[in-house]
Amino acid sequence: MKVTVNRRAHFNAAHRLHRKDWDDEKNRQVFGKCSNPHYHGHNYELIVAVTGEIDEQTGFVMDLKDLKELIYNKIEVPFDHKNLNVEVPEFKDLNPTAENISVVIWRKLRAELEPHLDLEVTLYETPRNFVTYKGE
Ligand code: NI
Repeated sequence: MKVTVNRRAHFNAAHRLHRKDWDDEKNRQVFGKCSNPHYHGHNYELIVAVTGEIDEQTGFVMDLKDLKELIYNKIEVPFDHKNLNVEVPEFKDLNPTAENISVVIWRKLRAELEPHLDLEVTLYETPRNFVTYKGE
């Protein structure tokens, strides 16, 4: 019997969509105002879903207190109120689109979870635009 436990988290961050190997015109053409050289911010909403068997002794799939701390230490502390392009090493040469941010988040959390647990990450860049990644 597999159950999914979810934890919602939040961070504010600035970014710019930009490829160094494209000129300004090409960047503007593809990324529009998201390529603004002065950056812009988003209120990111993150939902982390962990699926697994219910542990017979605890009744938990995983302790949500542990998941909360994991998300806080691995995602919120390094990402919140940061400029992703400049201050977060993973995006030094990786465009910080919602897609790429979700993959980075998934990898960071995956490394900390027990192998028998499945992980899916949902990242809202705006209330209407969101992406999901589950490691495929
Ligand atoms: Ni943006």
